[in-house]
Amino acid sequence: MRLVKTVKEVREIVNGWKKEGLSVGFVPTMGYLHEGHKSLIERSVKENDKTVVSVFVNPIQFGPNEDLASYPRDIEHDKKLVESAGADLIFNPEPSEMYGSHFTTLVNTTEVSENLCGAKRPVHFGGVCTVLTKLFNIVNPNRAYFGQKDAQQLAVVKRFVKDLNFDIEIIGCPIIREADGLAKSSRNTYLNPEERQAALILSKSLKLGLEAIKNGERDAKAVIDIITKSLETEKLARIDYVSIVDNENIQYIDRIEGEILCAIAVYIGKTRLIDNFIYKCEE
Ligand code: PAJ
Repeated sequence: MRLVKTVKEVREIVNGWKKEGLSVGFVPTMGYLHEGHKSLIERSVKENDKTVVSVFVNPIQFGPNEDLASYPRDIEHDKKLVESAGADLIFNPEPSEMYGSHFTTLVNTTEVSENLCGAKRPVHFGGVCTVLTKLFNIVNPNRAYFGQKDAQQLAVVKRFVKDLNFDIEIIGCPIIREADGLAKSSRNTYLNPEERQAALILSKSLKLGLEAIKNGERDAKAVIDIITKSLETEKLARIDYVSIVDNENIQYIDRIEGEILCAIAVYIGKTRLIDNFIYKCEE
């Protein structure tokens, strides 16, 4: 397993693989890797001849008051995890390698990025689409792997890849959770022990919403109320949003039908956590 820092090195290595007719899977990350990331890497290793993992804390997807400076970093730990998952290459560029001194291009979606986190984090998805456009052009993969943990991001990526004719298959992978239900996240490291316990309210509340839907509730507002009331029982929790949208265009819906995404963002202390479930109505 190699770690490289420049675009040139990645291109040379991947071009060599492509000349041999090998398929390439790609897992973009911001590092501080955990079992959630590992599940994507392992899936890529299984489905491709070679796997590239990028570790890059992308400055342009953070808003001015967000956690860019404090975002956790540990490349030595990441190297071990990527190696143990069986990947072949880590691309770990410096911000200057990615953006130089005078970067003026922005790739963004409309509609699919306007609600949920897009409404709360105005620069976020433009930054994500832009860095992924660059990374896709640098790595030139056959397949790229994304977690349902960031369900709106997955919908946004699927859309811009389709709209802009990237010849890359986008593969969504399930949310990996701690044994007690908390969705794994690099940001969980911000939580003190009391907050870590309080954070369980996210998955617990979503479970109540999912049960209501499974029991036949089809009114989105009724489900949102159940989840909201449950979140409000936790004194350390402050709701950012509780929403139900269609899982393709990420537009708010009143009635639960087709494939829906129920997504929440909740502050536990100062830490903003997200979680969700997807449900497909059979009727
Ligand atoms: P990051 O938050 O590091 O996540 C990288 C990938 O891991 C994403 O596709 C995310 O959905 C997935 N992931 C994170 N936690 C997961 C979990 N508990 N279970 C399953 N998958 C999980 O998402 C980003 O980085 C960035 O926005 C990026 C796409 C790299 C662009 O900068």
